[in-house]
Amino acid sequence: MARPAVDRVRQTAYDVLRAVDQRDAYVNLLLPALLRDAALSGRDAAFATELVHGAIRLQGTYDVIIDELVTRRMQPGVRDALRLGCHQLLSMRVPGHAAVSTSVDLVRRNTGEPPARMVNAVLRRVSGRSLAEWVELLAPSRDEDRAGHLAIAYSHPRWIVAALADAVAHDRASQRVWDEVEALLAADNHPARVTLAAIPGRASVAELVEAGAAPGKWSEHAATLGSGDPAAVPAVREGRARVQDEGSQLVARAVADAELDGPDRWWLDMCAGPGGKAALLAGLADRRGARLLAADRQGSRARLVKGALSEAPAGRAEIAHQTGVAGVVVADGTTPPWASAAFDRVLVDAPCSGLGALRRRPEARWRRTPEDVTALVRLQRALLHAALDSCREGGVVGYVTCTPHVSETREVVDGVLEARSDALEEDARPLLSLVPDTGHGPHVQLWPHRHGTDAMFLALLRRTGR
Ligand SMILES: C[S@@+](CC[C@H](N)C(=O)[O-])C[C@H]1O[C@@H](n2cnc3c(N)ncnc32)[C@H](O)[C@@H]1O
Repeated sequence: MARPAVDRVRQTAYDVLRAVDQRDAYVNLLLPALLRDAALSGRDAAFATELVHGAIRLQGTYDVIIDELVTRRMQPGVRDALRLGCHQLLSMRVPGHAAVSTSVDLVRRNTGEPPARMVNAVLRRVSGRSLAEWVELLAPSRDEDRAGHLAIAYSHPRWIVAALADAVAHDRASQRVWDEVEALLAADNHPARVTLAAIPGRASVAELVEAGAAPGKWSEHAATLGSGDPAAVPAVREGRARVQDEGSQLVARAVADAELDGPDRWWLDMCAGPGGKAALLAGLADRRGARLLAADRQGSRARLVKGALSEAPAGRAEIAHQTGVAGVVVADGTTPPWASAAFDRVLVDAPCSGLGALRRRPEARWRRTPEDVTALVRLQRALLHAALDSCREGGVVGYVTCTPHVSETREVVDGVLEARSDALEEDARPLLSLVPDTGHGPHVQLWPHRHGTDAMFLALLRRTGR
């Protein structure tokens, strides 16, 4: 007998949570595939997506509640079913009896009868309080331990709350740092709207608006989709527009717009995969008669860049490369194959902890560790040194991350500048003159809760004589 659609929805959500736990699957890759396999679309797909994203994002809060109510060891999978049940009971408008009975059914089917009875009892107790009441009961008080309170209330690892608080305090000498951190953590728990970038010379914002998008808030290339599938937009299907956060567009554009004396012919995107900023830069380079070289250490990522730069306009499959492109190479930016001082503009969009884009990847906050940051900082410094070496005297280097972690942003830039006498930092803020509140400089720091963008960081460095 066919199972009711609602069970397929919850079974799909459960399968994604299991795969994330057991084999470190990425939600953004796995969920669309499992939705397809289960033939879920429309409201069912939206419900499954909310279940998966919400249960994983908020698992820090839900696990504290579960651990309060379950003292025995749980079989694998039972915790995931409880997280899904908690999310339906505490954060979605699913009637209590449906949330409990479908969770019990999931456990009965996937694990067995005794744990199903336990889940029934636990979820009935969960439903006795609201989310706010559970947080009030189980989290440390705000006054005694603000970071500990926020970590549970907003479901972030404590070390990330501390790192974000440090970044906010660094950015804004204000009495209200914790209020702002709270707004930031809340923003991380809301899915980002889909933003598109019209690639200059290939698509226009007007065209995207005609296809149902709204003009972006800050970037002249941006349009946002209220709902719906980006692939339904013809320019996206044809590779002339891409899904890209507005913050990413702004920092790429800033690197392209920084003032330059002398030639402006050769541009380098040193960490280009998968090619979002490279596509924008190549479009801008073409307008100026410049050429972009895009590099990435990983062959698979470099292939994605090639795809981003070579999508053929509709009906013209013979066009191999977007104009404005010098080439795409697989190269380690720290030991580059290109000549030193060869470029007029260099973008280093460094590999980073991604703490500024947590709202995009539900599992990311639980995967990262403070040790990752230590290893990344070494690589970021080496890449920034190499970028400065690759840039001619008088040229500009944009150092970009999608994390606000001070060790990966300000401290990398300060460390590199201290170590060399041939580079100066310039004020990057005038390059984003329409965007308010980007910090006290000279770098730019964007924020999800202030700007609605990922927390992109940009520092602008000028190569000087020694
Ligand atoms: C933050 S992502 C870049 C995103 C890209 N700029 C975009 O807008 O689509 C960082 C990239 O750096 C690459 N990478 C890591 N280490 C590298 C190295 N030593 N040299 C060059 N690329 C590297 C990674 O493979 C990854 O694709």
